[in-house]
Amino acid sequence: MKKHILIVPGDGIGQEVTAVGKQVLDKIAAKFNHDFTYDEALIGHVAIEATGNPLPDETLVKMKASDAILFGAVGHPKYDNDPTAKVRPEQGLLKMRKELGLYANIRPIKLFDELLGASSIKPEILKGADILFFRELTGDIYFGEKGRKNNGDTAFDVAEYSRFEVERIARKAFDAAMTRGKKLMSVDKANVIETSRLWREVVQKVALEYPEVEVTHQFVDSCAMMLIKDPKQFDVVVTANLFGDILTDEASQIAGSMGMLASASIGDGTGVYEPIHGSAHDITGKGVANPLASILSAALLLDISFGLKAESELVISTVDKVLKEGYRTRDIADATTPADKILGTVAMGAEVL
Ligand code: NAI
Ligand code: MG
Repeated sequence: MKKHILIVPGDGIGQEVTAVGKQVLDKIAAKFNHDFTYDEALIGHVAIEATGNPLPDETLVKMKASDAILFGAVGHPKYDNDPTAKVRPEQGLLKMRKELGLYANIRPIKLFDELLGASSIKPEILKGADILFFRELTGDIYFGEKGRKNNGDTAFDVAEYSRFEVERIARKAFDAAMTRGKKLMSVDKANVIETSRLWREVVQKVALEYPEVEVTHQFVDSCAMMLIKDPKQFDVVVTANLFGDILTDEASQIAGSMGMLASASIGDGTGVYEPIHGSAHDITGKGVANPLASILSAALLLDISFGLKAESELVISTVDKVLKEGYRTRDIADATTPADKILGTVAMGAEVL
């Protein structure tokens, strides 16, 4: 298979972990006889430094011309400490999502058995948890009218969803459910919120096209409780932007470390694959960042954008194997990890390769 992949490392540890993610794509190409070509582009702080623009036109052109994007992170303490800064790294990220029409944020929550002890939740509750979240990414309260009235003493944010927006994310989630356990939970607050009532109505309608999928509708508050009480009962979850934002952060704790979680953002254009973590300036340049989230992002890229299931599964099972052999980066090591099994970014990448 011939594909062109754009590498966009961005800032901080994004540079370190994305380099490893790319090596894994390269290795897969060699092993399975694929012809992957690469280009690299700037975003975030490094782009501002080089061009004054967090998402230079050149980057956007390259993004639209590629088959998939392996992304790192954006962010720099310079802006975190100055909320009034007019040009900011995150503007590059938001503009990229908008320009590429990335309406579906997919976050697999999978706990590797070897890391059962890394979570604050009891191992017997976590063991076997494997959830695929679909968070709608371009609508809801984030994008509606917002403002102040009554001399600034009252604030408002309007939540809006169109039938079209709900339908397209629902279809993505149902399609994914068909390839997994054929169980889908749609999360809303349809007892109170009008956009949620539309959400439920549309999901029920789309469900008719997928008679094999067992669909449940859950209120967001009880879903939040169930995630911690019994995460094993979930398969695919689809929800609106705000609920998804909160629930996926909660669910990330099921997988132990930030350094283990990958995500995919897909939609109308090129898919973007990135770790859920940020640029982590506290550890930048120290060579200790966990590259597994970037490696698992590469696995998502192979699966979702290229349909290369076997290649994707090989990457995931190799990560599992390396963990079984006892290798850890610092963030997933514990008191029982022998010193010679605690690896830096490059060495962990080399084990996986
Ligand atoms: P962060 O995710 O960068 O770091 C949070 C904590 O997790 C830190 O202690 C960090 O050392 C640790 N960590 C993160 N990834 C790790 C890895 N791969 N291996 C080992 N440890 C890891 O979030 P933080 O510190 O709140 O933000 C830092 C910068 O990143 C900020 O400028 C923020 O705006 C940006 N950010 C960017 C995101 C993106 O590009 N999608 C997402 C979140 C934050
Ligand atoms: Mg969030």
